[in-house]
Amino acid sequence: MYVIVYHLARGASQIAAFRLALLHRDTQGHVIMHKAAQLHRPYALANWLYTIALMVVLIVMVGGITRLTESGLSITQWQPVSGILPPLSEAQWLAEFDEYRATPEYIFEAGPAGMTLADFKFIFFWEWFHRLMGRAIGVAFALPLAWFWIRGAIPAGYKWRLVALLSLGGLQGVFGWLMVRSGLSGEMTDVSHLWLSVHLLTALFTLGGLIWTALDLRDHARAVAAGGDPVPSRLTLGTLVTALILFIQLLLGAWVAGLNAGHASYDWPLMQGTLVPEFDLRRGWGWALTHDPFLLHFLHRWWAFAAVGALIWLARRVKPHNRAASIAIHSAFGTQILLGIATVVTGVALWIAVAHQLVGALLVVATAWGMHVTGRKDARPGPPDAA
Ligand code: HEM
Repeated sequence: MYVIVYHLARGASQIAAFRLALLHRDTQGHVIMHKAAQLHRPYALANWLYTIALMVVLIVMVGGITRLTESGLSITQWQPVSGILPPLSEAQWLAEFDEYRATPEYIFEAGPAGMTLADFKFIFFWEWFHRLMGRAIGVAFALPLAWFWIRGAIPAGYKWRLVALLSLGGLQGVFGWLMVRSGLSGEMTDVSHLWLSVHLLTALFTLGGLIWTALDLRDHARAVAAGGDPVPSRLTLGTLVTALILFIQLLLGAWVAGLNAGHASYDWPLMQGTLVPEFDLRRGWGWALTHDPFLLHFLHRWWAFAAVGALIWLARRVKPHNRAASIAIHSAFGTQILLGIATVVTGVALWIAVAHQLVGALLVVATAWGMHVTGRKDARPGPPDAA
């Protein structure tokens, strides 16, 4: 969160500086604004994207609460418009509860554990709120996008990117529903961990894309103000490898979460008194590497240090160009490791696990920032520009 708030605060002061830089005097001495400032509002666009990114971080956190309170299957239908309203009368609540009572999760787990209507209202709230936030993000993205588009305020080359980000958001709604449907299919009492990982990783990928595009727009504004040619940042081989290593860690984390594999061990560093726990190889390595809770928990707790190694490499590359980004990467992964260990030793305590999910999202923000810094024209290795 601090990373996004930092960018928002910087963005506000930069808008003022940008406007100032674009003011000129005409031949009669009247102050006029450079044409680029009227047409392009890259700082405003960047700040709008940072705001959306903040909303995405918050929805990821609420998604974590929804999962950890076992609330995700409480709404059994997908009604994009009418679902905005929760049940408003006692009769509507009872009808909604009846729908939930027919689900395998209720029949085999929540029901036998004893669930009252008040308990149901609590889990319903989290799922409903999570979906409401999803809708709010969609509106907060689509309406300003249309406005900027109509006003001709989007710089060349950014329209398709913004449409791609909007489409990712729409796709996310579809993935969310497919995930819920996997838990209502009758074969399982919980959602599929594979769908859960698609849902979480799409959110994190979109978050990275929002940050990257916002940073590009900010650089674009700076270049225009300085009368130079804006050059978007590029992915480099090193940063791509870092992203891949982090992606594997996030994927393992999503599978651990989706399989409730955090409960495979409450000890650290050992699992069941040994470094490498026993796991089920009867269905082969392919199955074990994608389904076995003990193996996946083991891999997630130790692959974390491969991720740390890659992130230290990235932070060192970033430091000479942007110290704040380097600090953000170090603080995010340091906190994340401690929270991961705390999640294990507290037996997946709700707020610790939620914090682990939140900081996971912030780590993605910090990494995207660092990757962007590394791929900027002035940070690229090679001979300096002739210009
Ligand atoms: C760079 C380091 C790490 C990253 C990026 C990361 C990321 C994630 C993500 C994205 C999830 C799924 C969502 C959630 O948090 O619930 C997760 C879950 C989890 N992680 Fe990590 N993790 C890291 C390190 C660790 C470490 C070192 C441990 C343990 C020693 C750990 C233990 C867990 C556990 C137990 C869960 C499941 C929690 C639950 O059911 O809610 N993580 N991790």
